[in-house]
Order: sequence, then structure tokens, then C-alpha cells
Amino acid sequence: MGQGAIDLYIKEYADQVERQLSAYIQQLQTPAKLKDAMLYSLLAGGKRIRPVLALAAGEALGAKMEQVMPVACAIEMIHTYSLIHDDLPAMDDDDYRRGKLTNHKVFGEDMAILAGDALLTHAFYIVANTSRVSLLSASTVCNIMEDMSYATGPVGMVGGQAADMDGNVSNIEDIEYIHQHKTSDLIAFSLRSGGHVAGANDEQMEALQAFGMKIGLAFQILDDVLDVIGNENKIGKKINSDVDQNKITYVSLLGVKECQNRIEKLTNEGKALLRPDLFQDPSKLLQLADFLVKRDY
Ligand code: IPE
Ligand code: IPE
Ligand code: MG
Ligand code: MG
Ligand code: MG
Repeated sequence: MGQGAIDLYIKEYADQVERQLSAYIQQLQTPAKLKDAMLYSLLAGGKRIRPVLALAAGEALGAKMEQVMPVACAIEMIHTYSLIHDDLPAMDDDDYRRGKLTNHKVFGEDMAILAGDALLTHAFYIVANTSRVSLLSASTVCNIMEDMSYATGPVGMVGGQAADMDGNVSNIEDIEYIHQHKTSDLIAFSLRSGGHVAGANDEQMEALQAFGMKIGLAFQILDDVLDVIGNENKIGKKINSDVDQNKITYVSLLGVKECQNRIEKLTNEGKALLRPDLFQDPSKLLQLADFLVKRDY
């Protein structure tokens, strides 16, 4: 299967995720400006790589797609909230995201903060509701909620963002801590969420986790690289955001070439962890890992 086929696979799942996300938010009875602000960022585009990884991990272990879909959407809601807040003047102070003005530029800082809060909170509602409508068992939902809170809270994504804001970085270990938490933790959880739904065993979960940490780190190193050598029209955000804030990144510490070597190495190490004896069909996950290395957006 060539690169074209995985592009199509991503597009098909991304379209399904987008339709479902839209439906989840449209039906809410909430102040119009809040709803508009939530929909604006949620439907602004984006690669949808985390929900696609969740769906692909579920698929690799024989889960039913309709059972993974709500969790996949919840993950994209959490990711989108993290971007809205990341772009605020108090954080990275960015004006463009996903090819459009950032949320606070359009709706104001007050509504951008609240749209982020609302997406975060509603993500947990969406997951909890799968048990009420008997799509997932109460124990599966409980496991997903525990894992999701851990991966995205103070010891996960928010912890990584806090260390990033603190800026106390002097070596590669410091930056690796930030990258693993702000980015890899949610990517690894996305994969594990498919495993939870499929009823994966410990060995399968550990493989998904380890694969996610490798490709998640590669993903954030490439994000740092694209901040320097990317094309603004393709990445949908301004380049040099990190340099403008005097941020120490993988690129400032190692240079572009060494970053590219590490991205390649981490991806290959990650792929080797998806042993064929553990997964019914890991082919999509392997192709997604390759897609993520080759991306220019
Ligand atoms: C951007 O994530 C933030 C990082 C963690 C690097 P993505 O590159 O997945 O952003 P979208 O969702 O495609 O806009
Ligand atoms: C953002 O990292 C990570 C999270 C939002 C959790 P960056 O600040 O590097 O992401 P971009 O470059 O703004 O997308
Ligand atoms: Mg940031
Ligand atoms: Mg940023
Ligand atoms: Mg960045």
C-alpha cells in the first residue's frame, strides 16, 4: 500500500470524526458565542492524527469503530482545547492556527479561554455518556477516564505545557521531558484508548504505549523543525514562533539535520515495537508512523 492509500485512510476517518464532532457541539444548548467559538477551532481543519491513531489502534486489535469513535472525538476536543489555550497571549501568543486567525483573535481572550474549558469538560461527558447509552461497559469507561485524566493533566500534557512555559531548559533531557509530556502523552493515550475499547491485554497496551511515546517524540521534534523550515501556508501557523519567543527547542539545541536523524530513528524504533504476534493487523499503524515522519504540515 503506497502513501496515497494511507492519505485516503486518514481522510476517510478524519471526515467521520469531523461530522461527529460537529453533531456533538451543534446539539448543545449553550450561549451562541461559546458554541461558535468551540466550533470555530474544532472545525478549522487539523490533521486529526490523534483520533485516527485511536481508531487505527482499535482496528489493529479488532474493536468496532463505532465504539472507538466517541473516545476519538473526545481526544480531538482535548487536543483542540490545548491549542486554543497554547495560542493565547499569556502562552505562545500566536495569531494563526490551522490556516485561520486564532480563537482569541476572533472571539476575544475571555471566550477563547471558555471555549477551551468547555471542550475539555465536554470531552469527559462524551466518554462517560457511552456507558449510559450502552455503547461501552461502565468498567471500560472508567478505565478510559482514568487513563485520559492522567495523560492530559498535571503529570501529562498540562505538566508538559507548564514546564514549557517555565522555560527552564538547558539540555536535551529538559526538552525531552517537555516534549514527552506536552505531546507524546496524548498521542500514546490516543493509541491506548483503542486498546481499552478492544479489551487489549497488558502486553498489547504496553506496546501501544511504547510505540506512542516514540512516535509522539518524533512528532514534536518535527513540529519544532517545521517551525523553522516549514511553509506557513502548509502548516497553517506562522513559522519562527519558537525563535520569536527565544524558546529552546530540539532544533536550537541540535540543528535541523540531527533532528531529522532522530525523527527517523525514533519512528523506526517505534515501528519495531508493534510485533506481529501482538496485533491482528498493525499495517495501518505502521503506515501512520511513516506518514507522520514524511509530513510537511
Ligand atoms: C500541534 O498538533 C500541537 C502539537 C502538539 C505539536 P498538530 O500538528 O496535530 O495540530 P493539528 O491538529 O493538525 O492542527
Ligand atoms: C503545543 O506545542 C503542545 C500543546 C498544545 C499541548 P507547540 O506550542 O509547539 O505547538 P504549536 O507549534 O503552537 O502548534
Ligand atoms: Mg506551546
Ligand atoms: Mg504553540
Ligand atoms: Mg510548535
